[in-house]
Amino acid sequence: MMLQIYSKLILYVFSGTGNAYKIAQFIKEKATEFGLETEIIKLKTGVIPSTEKSEKKLLIGFLMPTHGFNVPPIMQEFVFKFPKDINADVFILNTRAGLKMHKLFLPGLSGLAQILPAFILLLKGYKVIGMQPMDMPSNWISIHPGVGPVVQKSISERCERITKKFTSKILTGKSAYKALWSLPLDIAIIPVSFLYYFFGRFFLSKTFIYNYNCNSCGLCAKECPVHAIEMHNDKPYWKLTCESCMHCMNFCPSRAIETPHVFVALVWWSIGFINAMLVIPWLKYQTGLAPESGLGYWLYQASYIALGFLVIVSTYYMLHYLMRFRWFSKVISFTSLTHFNFWRRYKAQ
Ligand SMILES: Cc1cc2nc3c(=O)[nH]c(=O)nc-3n(C[C@H](O)[C@H](O)[C@H](O)COP(=O)(O)O)c2cc1C
Ligand code: SF4
Ligand code: SF4
Repeated sequence: MMLQIYSKLILYVFSGTGNAYKIAQFIKEKATEFGLETEIIKLKTGVIPSTEKSEKKLLIGFLMPTHGFNVPPIMQEFVFKFPKDINADVFILNTRAGLKMHKLFLPGLSGLAQILPAFILLLKGYKVIGMQPMDMPSNWISIHPGVGPVVQKSISERCERITKKFTSKILTGKSAYKALWSLPLDIAIIPVSFLYYFFGRFFLSKTFIYNYNCNSCGLCAKECPVHAIEMHNDKPYWKLTCESCMHCMNFCPSRAIETPHVFVALVWWSIGFINAMLVIPWLKYQTGLAPESGLGYWLYQASYIALGFLVIVSTYYMLHYLMRFRWFSKVISFTSLTHFNFWRRYKAQ
């Protein structure tokens, strides 16, 4: 048993497919070797920070995946609301999209995922003693198949070693700021973080749909950490509050959740088409402004976004209704890459 700097370790973990949770378990294993009591608290809607008071300092970790070069909104909100008066040091660990090519491990990119929570916690008066990114296997199976078991094992074992080294360091009173190594790149990508936060995530929430294999068990709605799925006529309907954590798609026991790739491409094409053929000419006629002029540029961008939003929400509503017809569901399924067996699902092992 070593001399303890901290009285207890509390880990707040948001995780879609288990990567951040697995890292929390590695940290707990190491902390237990140090004889430090550790509590893992899974973040979902309604979870509030522990208000445990202690004479001796606590150590508090915030663990989450990176979403759109940013912190997932549920964790952002949690950190914003986190009380100022807890006697604690804090650290931040974001899991990212790690890949492996031959023997080379490729990292993901954090953007605001470290800087933003670190900044908020600093403003609240906390000492941030650790900022660690962790390149676990990418779980974004809307855009690529799930990572295979061999690569997954190898990436995960590497992350276990890094996590345990990081944990030993911070538990012995040292600071570890590996996240700052990519600071210039993270800052350069911030405009994309904003685009994702204000637009991208809403669009992505409408790229999930059930197929004809759905047996209406309701598990996806029950397990969604942010209650973003409602059962409409016994079938899951994804609301705009979905954070694309990928839990539902990877854990549906009937493999009944798809990303309808061809449908999504057609919707995007239609938005561009309607904009070019109807909206732009109409705006030009009404205002006389050219799309390149200062005010014109913003007006045309705003109308494009409004049109996109309207088309996406209304076509999604229609899609949800039509999927109850087996023939229609089959057409959508067979034009979705997620339907085929080679397009694996992903769960942290
Ligand atoms: C919608 C979405 C956006 C993502 N954006 C990023 C990103 O900006 N940078 C990155 O490195 N990884 C990104 N990822 C990958 C995840 O952060 C990564 O796989 C993480 O380890 C998943 O952790 P979890 O299993 O705890 O949810 C994204 C994944 C999803 C689903
Ligand atoms: S999509 Fe899957 S988890 Fe959700 S209700 Fe249907 S079968 Fe159940
Ligand atoms: S709806 Fe699915 S992807 Fe969206 S937040 Fe809930 S579990 Fe995650």
